[in-house]
Amino acid sequence: MKQTELQALLADMSLEEKIGQMVQLTGDFLGQEGIVTGPEGRIVVTPEQARLTGSILGVSGADKLRAIQEQVLAGQPHHIPMLFMLDVINGFKTIFPIPLAQGASFEPELAKRGAQIAAAEASAAGVHLTFAPMLDLVRDARWGRVMESPGEDPFLVGAFAEAMTKGFQGDKLSDKGKMAACLKHFAGYGYPEGGRDYDNVELSERTFRDAFLPGYRKAVEAGVAMAMTSFNTINRVPSSANRWLMRDVLRGEMGFDGVLISDYDAVGELVSHGIAADDREAAKLAILAGVDIDMMSPCYLNHLQELVESGEVEERLIDEAVMRILKLKNDLGLFENPFKDADEAEASRLILCDSFRREAREAAAKTFVLLKNEDAILPLSAAADETVLLSGPYCTERRICGAWSFPDTYDNIPNVLERVAEGLSGSALKAEYAPGCSVTLRGSILKDKPEEGMTHEETEKAIREAAEKAAGAGKVILFLGERFYQTGEGSSRTELSLPGMQMDLLRAVSSVNPNVITVVFSGRPLVMTEIEQLSKAVLMVWMPGTEGAGAIADVLLGKREPEGRLSMSLPFAAGQEPLYYNRFRSGRPRFSSEDIKGYKVGYIDIDYWPHHPFGYGLGYTEFTCSPVKLSADTLEAGGSITASVTVKNTGKRAGSETVQLYLRDAAGSVVRPVRELKGFTKVRLQPGECREVAFTITEEMLRFTRLDMRFASEPGDFEVFIGHDSLTENKAVFRLQA
Ligand code: NOJ
Repeated sequence: MKQTELQALLADMSLEEKIGQMVQLTGDFLGQEGIVTGPEGRIVVTPEQARLTGSILGVSGADKLRAIQEQVLAGQPHHIPMLFMLDVINGFKTIFPIPLAQGASFEPELAKRGAQIAAAEASAAGVHLTFAPMLDLVRDARWGRVMESPGEDPFLVGAFAEAMTKGFQGDKLSDKGKMAACLKHFAGYGYPEGGRDYDNVELSERTFRDAFLPGYRKAVEAGVAMAMTSFNTINRVPSSANRWLMRDVLRGEMGFDGVLISDYDAVGELVSHGIAADDREAAKLAILAGVDIDMMSPCYLNHLQELVESGEVEERLIDEAVMRILKLKNDLGLFENPFKDADEAEASRLILCDSFRREAREAAAKTFVLLKNEDAILPLSAAADETVLLSGPYCTERRICGAWSFPDTYDNIPNVLERVAEGLSGSALKAEYAPGCSVTLRGSILKDKPEEGMTHEETEKAIREAAEKAAGAGKVILFLGERFYQTGEGSSRTELSLPGMQMDLLRAVSSVNPNVITVVFSGRPLVMTEIEQLSKAVLMVWMPGTEGAGAIADVLLGKREPEGRLSMSLPFAAGQEPLYYNRFRSGRPRFSSEDIKGYKVGYIDIDYWPHHPFGYGLGYTEFTCSPVKLSADTLEAGGSITASVTVKNTGKRAGSETVQLYLRDAAGSVVRPVRELKGFTKVRLQPGECREVAFTITEEMLRFTRLDMRFASEPGDFEVFIGHDSLTENKAVFRLQA
């Protein structure tokens, strides 16, 4: 449709029809079963309201959605097609590793490809829009939703924001296999007090702008079609009522011109927040703030019409919102083809096809972070004539895709035991298996699913059996981890430890066999200190997705190397959280190296810094990095300088290194971070091979929100760090000219 036709359509719509477009319900309200991701209790819908509803969430399936669309088109006075939305986070049915793991790949192209595959599958299943990418900067591992973010660094989050948005949306939303994306959760949801989900966020405007906004901004620049308000408050204003945030910052400054949707019942929750007396006032605050679609609350549904009729809300605001929604439907091509790509045959051809599975497997290995590898115990040597004991709950666990994944069945997700056995066949190695323990304990007093798992007594027996087998084995590989739903929405934790009796299994096994390799599944950074003390090698595999088990076998057996680097700092103790590398400098101690590293405000019982810093991770070979060379030692506004190093593979295998560039402002009008990631690149080198890696530095990269609140640079000295991780000391200095 042309813009003039959209305008004519809007002009012809009744107020009820327009408000219907601004309401989103779950499929249940149209008699459809689907995924329900929040409370439904307060909503009562009349048949007329259901008929006018503009979008639903949580339903997929080509035939099902075709049938709904036919019903909608027949019932709608203007035959306006409905929008179908769903949480397609790290995959639709072929699931990639969780976003935090994808961040650890330092390979935005991987996330782009994951999003393309997800869009191909989901759009064939009739879905038009995904509630992704999630771009909340995360700094506190206790928060359950860290798994959904690319990580703790603004530059990294921004790189993934752009890649994922482009992956889902392609060049044109109406193209086959593409779907609209939705950046979320605007804004600052990733920094709730104490890491407690939905809690308040208190941030200075300067830090909010410099650290938290850049990721979302990159998605807007990449043309993201929708944005979602966050549940939290920012400086005591809940996002769905925050006019400054939505109208001035998101639309005004960032130039977002797509549809703004609330999070699930977030408009209704303005009453719980205590800034609206009732649903009516909540509806008014939300429309004034610029929320176009009210997801799953009764506010717009029941009160928007009377607010307009009483003159409290100008109809102009409704028209603007509806025009944005109609435009999105039009961009998706729904007026011409209301079913878009919905096609059962195509969906069953694409979903979980061999090539998607293969790509998911390759991607997973790129996200694994090798934390320790003493005596180069990994990769396993296929020629060794020895027994390898496989033990621990993740040997047989199939729920390894993360909390925001909804496979139709877990039966076709291979487990570790199957894939490692397959990998070992044909080698001299023999695998043995002992269950060891369950993830959590049955009857536990903690909230972790006390009805599941082994009892304490059963576990003690299983651990004894595992230890007996371990004593006779050449090596032991333990597959341990958090339960898959211990991260995700509403899943914050106070402890960053392995649940149940998994540490007892590790202690028992390592006391009889020195060659323990521990593979850890998790949706967040965990405290790994004791795990590392008791293991020769530790591999973090996050929640690795549909083909994660195959990728683990590939990495253990050396068919692939683990390429991941930490996307969040790993703490020594949960009490260090929030923990992130790009901290602000402080007054004490003066001029020590800790000051440069930034971890100086510390504790008396543990070290100040993280156990492993952001950017850290080992591979199966070693690299050296030459001193930083600068093309000039001064930079002029409008100009650029080049900072370069030569990286050499000094080991015996081909491998890849993630070379990271950090900058540090020597002095600014406000306190600056100790260093900030400004570039990264991955190089793959053969043994003995060298490559020069160069980064261009421009004045734009040095800008920040200054004392005068202008986003601009300030002349002076800057340090350039290039190396393996965020603690590298390999540096040079240049001066930005006035
Ligand atoms: C609530 C979550 O916060 C959001 O991320 C999700 O997209 C919606 N529910 C819809 O499921």
